[in-house]
Amino acid sequence: MMRHLSPTGSPIKFAELAGWLVNTVTGRNNSEALLQLAKELLGVDAGFLFSTGRGAMTALLTAVKLQNSDSGRDEVVVPAYTCYSVASSVINAGLKIRLCDIDPRTLSYDEQQLHQIDFSRVVAIISANLYGLPNDLPMLEKLAKTEGVLLIDDAAQSLNAKIDGRYLGSFGDAGILSLDKGKNVTSIQGGLIVTNHRGLAESLSQQVGKLDALSFKRQLIEFIKVLIYYFFLNPYAYKLPANISFSGLGETRFETDVEVSKYPAFLSSLATAQFNRIDQITQSRTRHGFYYDGALQSNQSITKIDRLAQTEPAYLRYPLLVHDADKRSELLDRFREYGISASYPKSLNCVTEIEAHLVGERRCPGAEAIAGQIVTLPTHAYVRESDMNQIIETLAGL
Ligand SMILES: Cc1ncc(COP(=O)(O)O)c(C=O)c1O
Repeated sequence: MMRHLSPTGSPIKFAELAGWLVNTVTGRNNSEALLQLAKELLGVDAGFLFSTGRGAMTALLTAVKLQNSDSGRDEVVVPAYTCYSVASSVINAGLKIRLCDIDPRTLSYDEQQLHQIDFSRVVAIISANLYGLPNDLPMLEKLAKTEGVLLIDDAAQSLNAKIDGRYLGSFGDAGILSLDKGKNVTSIQGGLIVTNHRGLAESLSQQVGKLDALSFKRQLIEFIKVLIYYFFLNPYAYKLPANISFSGLGETRFETDVEVSKYPAFLSSLATAQFNRIDQITQSRTRHGFYYDGALQSNQSITKIDRLAQTEPAYLRYPLLVHDADKRSELLDRFREYGISASYPKSLNCVTEIEAHLVGERRCPGAEAIAGQIVTLPTHAYVRESDMNQIIETLAGL
């Protein structure tokens, strides 16, 4: 194929890039407007910006730890299949990880294991909401209340997804959003915490006041990255970065240290411009997600992921499971140009760097099965109907 689709990146429009360049030159700071948009959409009182989603998660967990400093509790319940940087954030906040297995049918927590957890030392539970698919957040909210722990709703991949009309990121006590590459709203990097929790908001306010800014050199690198992202995400240009093996595209590595820094103000107008058309961005994603969903059938080779009742996914990608390891490898290899991609290669119980920070159950067969079988299909605005038909035909023939 002449084109090469990225697995997940949303295109930035020319007008958005041009407006951002003007705002950067004139020194305009839209950070407050960005926070306001997020707070309004999610219906929350307080919002805080950080240079990354993982930095935001680390700051939030630090605030959670401070709130619980007298209780002797120091554990966080983490989904055994989620982004590695969630685990890094828990470790960087000085807390321990209590994994809970994931149900491969829904990518939500395995409820049976969740209800067997010993919550006596737990301070918080974190949701996953991977690929824009909502977890069973009403159930998690109820459980967190019953157990007297906080719920952190990780909507890094699920901005604009809903359950019963309620936005992801607004469940529980605080939500996390990411503005990283490949997210629905991107400024190459960035992360937000949204919360209605007074104590957490006060603690975060203090932390934010003391944050260091990124160095001029780092900001210059981010500036260049925006330009590269704009020019090379286009399927006619993406071949180049995708084929440069040292570009590190799509690689998942465990990062031990999480930097907690200020969000660079010059990126804010880029994020704000996309936030203003979040419904349009999501509609294009969901149209593609539902197209795959309507055309694909679970069979002996593939299993679709069940959407939970009352949920409106944002479909950052369309996930499914391919059972046969050889067929999956071949698919990922031969159809890379169609944006077909794997996801995190390991469940968190199998990531060696995390081992020393784990407490409780380490057997997570559901999460391990997901890591070995998951395949994600692209849903972004560069995807054409003919691409989807080719992908569907290939999957049907497995
Ligand atoms: C579920 C989840 N949580 C947290 C993060 C961290 O966000 P960031 O990449 O902005 O650090 C990510 C990143 O992709 C994620 O997917």
